[in-house]
Amino acid sequence: MTLDTLENLLVERDGAIATLTINRPKVLNALNTQTIDELGRALLAIKNDDGVRAVIVTGAGEKSFVAGADINELAAQTPIGGRELARRGQRVFDLIEHLGKPVIAAINGYALGGGCELALACTVRIAVDTARLGQPEINLGIMPGYGGSQRLSRLIGRGAALELLLTGDQISAADAYRLGLVNRVVTAANLMGEARKLALMLASKAPIAVRYILDAVNRGLEMPLPEALDFEATLFGLVAATDDMREGTKAFLEKRKAEFRGK
Ligand code: COA
Repeated sequence: MTLDTLENLLVERDGAIATLTINRPKVLNALNTQTIDELGRALLAIKNDDGVRAVIVTGAGEKSFVAGADINELAAQTPIGGRELARRGQRVFDLIEHLGKPVIAAINGYALGGGCELALACTVRIAVDTARLGQPEINLGIMPGYGGSQRLSRLIGRGAALELLLTGDQISAADAYRLGLVNRVVTAANLMGEARKLALMLASKAPIAVRYILDAVNRGLEMPLPEALDFEATLFGLVAATDDMREGTKAFLEKRKAEFRGK
């Protein structure tokens, strides 16, 4: 990965795991245009690198995952520019959802506005017990533009999503867990350890099956059920023809651990 010119994003690679750290701690890792673009570049490189099998996204410092889109940039938007800003962010977050590999949000503090939307685009969300989550755009007289109005309602349901979107309230990690907005809540000391443990576990699974499960859920949820079931059956047929399927079933019968190679 040749990403050494990135200013606002740290990219680390440890075996099959890539960790992306949004790195603007002075502004609580607010996402300006440059940071969104850097995230997009890093994600494209990761998408095309078969050696990376799972990704962790987190924020620099101890206080914040991402405290939203950069309000300095938002304050100066025109209608055309604002629409383009939203589309650019949406494209990058779509890339996370359709990366073909699991992405774990390690929510180390505030996940507000664009930060909550970033977490929503990820596959799994693990939050520190002190995290605060929410979509406070309404308090700025605006609304989410990086997919929040859509992904939040799809994840936690229309009623709970509308309450969060319209009140702009920040909620605790425990309440986010109750709503299904985060998958797990851990202490700060355990956050990155838990994220890495899960990333390593997911990275050990058959990569093609992982990709198809992500596709079946993420694309299938957008389809009418009969088409989604047809799509599932097609993916099932494809995955049943892989070397990894033969290895997985053979290893089970031979009572040994399967070695998946992504073929
Ligand atoms: N965009 C730009 N700058 C931001 C920011 C954002 N989304 N969120 C925080 N910052 C900046 C603050 O302006 C401040 O800068 P300064 O030191 O130059 O004054 C710095 O980050 C620290 O934030 P501060 O507000 O002093 O910290 P806090 O602990 O008192 O409050 C928050 C933390 C997250 C509650 C508060 O920063 C906040 O409400 N941020 C905006 C959240 C939001 O509305 N996000 C949605 C944007 S669409």
